[in-house]
Amino acid sequence: MLIRMKTVLLMLALAVLLALIAATAFVAIGVYNIAATVQHTRPVYWLLDVAMRRSVKLRSAAIETPALDDDTRIRNGFAHYRNHCLQCHGAPGIAPEPFALGLTPAPAALVATAREWPAKDIFWVVKYGIKMSGMPAWEYRMTDQEIWDVVAFVEHMPALSPADYQRWDRGMPARPAGTVPAVAAPSAPAAPGDVQAGRLAIDQYLCATCHQIPGIVGANRHVGPPLNGIGTRKYIAGVLPNTRENMVRWLRHPTAVDPLSAMPDLGVTEKDARDIAAYLYTLKDVE
Ligand code: HEC
Ligand code: HEC
Repeated sequence: MLIRMKTVLLMLALAVLLALIAATAFVAIGVYNIAATVQHTRPVYWLLDVAMRRSVKLRSAAIETPALDDDTRIRNGFAHYRNHCLQCHGAPGIAPEPFALGLTPAPAALVATAREWPAKDIFWVVKYGIKMSGMPAWEYRMTDQEIWDVVAFVEHMPALSPADYQRWDRGMPARPAGTVPAVAAPSAPAAPGDVQAGRLAIDQYLCATCHQIPGIVGANRHVGPPLNGIGTRKYIAGVLPNTRENMVRWLRHPTAVDPLSAMPDLGVTEKDARDIAAYLYTLKDVE
């Protein structure tokens, strides 16, 4: 009996040692790809996302939320949002700046966050930031009052159309001209596009922050329609017949199709649009 116990303990110790050696080798050899152009694997993404959500929830629990539906507060929040958040998170009809498209993890479309997160969780994240991501802490740059103003504006965002946002924006001092590259005239019809390259490009234009897209890690938000079955749908955005050329046109310049579309122009290049279209056309199952 005692001998059997000893054997079991020895085996356990050996298993732990082997796991430690494997983990050390994994890190020391550099197996995990840290490039921001490649999304985390599904299990790592899940782990990081759940850990972040749980960490925020635990720490925001004791925060008291003030009244947020006050017009002055929302307007003040808009001014701060425009100065400090728009560059990375965009706004209804406005794309984030080019540098922000390249961030992994991707900056969320806060319209979706406003619908899903309690206000105090948003307050906590804005105040303290998120380690190992592009999300800055604002604690030393903004007062609590100002942060609540921004939260009030974020909470109000789902009710703002791109036209509303433009109207609010016109009342404000001019911002430096947007730097998302202008879309060049379409070139001659090129090769049909590369599915694998399209899958990678989808992460680089923040498509996953607004759409549910089968096969793309983390693509589970609902600012725009889910893209499952897009390959077999008759129309794009309800207006364009679903051809490859029209898909490329939509992806490159949605506001040319519909000036008030809530899908912003993201500066997608001709090649990337073709590759993304190639990927989207693999999504045929309508559920
Ligand atoms: C430099 C870019 C940058 C700026 C500026 C920035 N953020 Fe973020 N933000 C991020 C990134 C990247 C994430 C994603 C972090 C993650 O998922 O772990 C994020 C996450 C968030 C989240 C969590 C959303 C979610 O659904 O996961 C909130 C809320 C948020 N930011 C609000 C704001 C507000 C409000 C401001 C302005 C005061 C702001 N951010 C400024 C980059 C930025
Ligand atoms: C800020 C959020 C946002 C981002 C980022 C975004 N979209 Fe959209 N997308 C939308 C919205 C909102 C609509 C619905 C627009 C409309 O009908 O005017 C839409 C519509 C679409 C449609 C038409 C869907 C249908 O059912 O007809 C496709 C296809 C699409 N998006 C693909 C993409 C791809 C690919 C990317 C990345 C290059 C992307 N979107 C980035 C918000 C977004």
